[in-house]
Order: sequence, then C-alpha cells, then structure tokens
Amino acid sequence: MPKLNENYLQLKDSYLFSEIAHRTAAYSEKHPDKPVIRLGIGDVTRPLCECAIKALHESVDEMGQSATFKGYGPEQGYAKTRDAIAAYYKRNGVEVDADAIFISDGAKSDTGNITELFGHDNVILIPDPVYPVYVDSNTMCGNKVTYISGNADNDFLPMPDHSQHVDVIYICSPNNPTGACYNKEQLKEWVDYALENEAVILYDSAYEAFISDPELPRSIYAIEGARKCAIEFCSLSKTAGFTGTRCGYTVVPKELVFTSSDGRKMSLNAMWNRRQSTKYNGTSYIVQNAAAAIFSEEGIKECQENLNYYKKNAKVIADTLTELQIPFYGGIHSPYIWFECPNGMDSWTCFDYLLENIQVVGTPGAGFGENGKNYFRLTSFGTYESTVEAMNRFKKLFAK
Ligand code: MLT
Repeated sequence: MPKLNENYLQLKDSYLFSEIAHRTAAYSEKHPDKPVIRLGIGDVTRPLCECAIKALHESVDEMGQSATFKGYGPEQGYAKTRDAIAAYYKRNGVEVDADAIFISDGAKSDTGNITELFGHDNVILIPDPVYPVYVDSNTMCGNKVTYISGNADNDFLPMPDHSQHVDVIYICSPNNPTGACYNKEQLKEWVDYALENEAVILYDSAYEAFISDPELPRSIYAIEGARKCAIEFCSLSKTAGFTGTRCGYTVVPKELVFTSSDGRKMSLNAMWNRRQSTKYNGTSYIVQNAAAAIFSEEGIKECQENLNYYKKNAKVIADTLTELQIPFYGGIHSPYIWFECPNGMDSWTCFDYLLENIQVVGTPGAGFGENGKNYFRLTSFGTYESTVEAMNRFKKLFAK
C-alpha cells in the first residue's frame, strides 16, 4: 500500500469555489423555476477583446501551415510575450527584465507551485482573510502557517509586526477578497521588513489593472529594494478576461539570491527556471500571442473598456450597500465588494439566506479565513443587468 500525503487530511473537504458551485447546483436542481444570479467566483462575463481574438485567429492559421507551425515552445515563454509584459511594466513606471518573466497558465498555478522552492521549516506569514490557494497549497506540502490579521481596525491592511521574524510573506494587493489596496508607504514598510528579515515576499498583483489612482502601486517593484526580496504573480484572467483562455506570469528577479545551509548561493530565478522546465512545457503559442496582443496600446485600451464595465457594476453594488447602510470595503480599486453580513448573520448563513430568498450567490467570507466569518464577498464580474437586478433584490430584502 502506498503511503499517502496525509497533509491532505488537514484540508477542508472541498475547495471553496467548488463548494459554492456544488451548493448552487443543488439549489438550482431543486428550484429550476428560480434563476440564480452568480456573483460568487470572480469569473468574468465580457468576451475577449478584439485584439486578442485577432491574434488567436492568426495564430491558429499559423499552426495550420507547415512553414509557420510551432511545436514545443520555450518553457519560460516566447520572447514576444515576455517583452510585451516588460514593456507594460515600463509603461506603468516599473523596470522589470524580460528574462525575469515566466509565462504560465495563470497565477493560481504559480502561487500554488511556488511552495516547491522553499523548505518546510520556514515561518510563513499569510494574511487572514485572503485567497485560499496560499493556505491550502502550504497545507498540502505540510508547511505550518502563521496568520496576520486583517480586520476592520486596520482597514483589512495588516502591517508587519517588527518584533516577529518570518521567512516567507504572502501579500495580495488589491486584496482578494477585501478589495483593500496598500499604498506606497505601506508597501515600503513590508519591503523594508522583508529585507531586514531576509524574507521573501510572494506578491499577488492579479487585480492591479483595477487600480485607478496613479499614486497607488500596481506592482511591488514600484518600491525600492523589492527586486531583492519579492516575487510577483500576475494574471490575465481579470485584466483581459482570460479565465477560460488561461495565461498568467510570474516575475522572479535575478537579484533574489539566498544562501543554502552549506553556504552555496541559490538563485530563485534559476530554481524557478529549473522547476518550470522540468514540470511545465510552456503556455500554448496561440494563447501567448493573444497575451502579447493584450499588452499592445490597442489591447490595453480595449481591455480598459471591459474594466470600466466591471467598475460600473462595482459602483452599483457599492451604492446599494451605502443606501442600505451595510458597511463594506473595496469596490474602487478592485472588482470585489466585501461587506459585513447584515443582522449579525455568519457568512455561510448569509450565503444560504441570499440563495433561498433572492437567488443571489456570493462568497462567504469564512472561506477566506477566520476573520471573514462575518463578512461576505460579491464580485462585479456579472453582467450590468444581472448586477442591477441582484441589487434591486437586495434593496427589497434588506430595506429597513
Ligand atoms: C476568486 O473568485 O477569488 C477568483 O476568481 C479565484 C481565482 O482567481 O482563482
């Protein structure tokens, strides 16, 4: 009998969004006459922009001709895509070398897989609440996690505890699920803390494109010193509607060098390269061409139109909650709105209450950590019409 990875026994039975999908499907099966509005998982509804579609069509045609057909590509990604992303960083005022950029099938895989670069006796700091992949992927490999509390007192933006040493720090900004976003001073404090502790920051910037204040950092590399202490993960899922197309990228600067227990230098860039070339055969040529098109001037403009659409939805949700006097966070530099469950409900009770009474599906805060147990997350990724309809139902349900 094989010995199994018993760390899996420490996980909840199912992944948060699978559980929500399961409960929603069970409800719909029982009540086929009551259509459900889904504002739970952050899955986009706008189609791919024209630039991406054009690049996809052209690439498919290339694959059909022997002169332009492509087999395996570079595991790190095609130069065209890496260069386009480096140029996108530059456009936002940040220098990132193209050879520090690794193209992948999304930030979820990379934030999960990155645990492989680290030993198992690190102090790993994870904010609570946060995207569940960080905790679950550490649990799967037997790592112990230390939590730092995000709550109403710190506006869900926890800051380092300078009396505590940690080795690996997860930060997601704009935050999933709270929508809170660190400013430059706050991020600088995290970078300084990481440098003092010789720690690594794993920075998830999947929602950077939602930042509309030019003063707020869209990348950790906007902060001096970050190249010596931070890996950044980013995704086209939300920026360009690639949830089904799949493409993301991870930046591992060459400056990230640490010392092994026997005194040898270890480069995280070289390790990630070794990991990817061993276990990943690269993102498809077709998808990478679409990704490169997204970062052209025209692509950025077209994506912005979709982002504006979702921002308008976020405003509809925020305005409704304001009217109903339900306290909330997010919704400005983020597609997520994080609100306090009304009438003292806990978050799973709130989930059932909304599903049963108004057929609106959201995400219970408890799925993001202990501190989320009295909060609830809605996304602005629905259609405008369904968002307005969901909010009309909220108004009827929660009118005082
Ligand atoms: C979410 O709803 O939190 C995200 O869509 C999940 C993800 O990006 O994997």
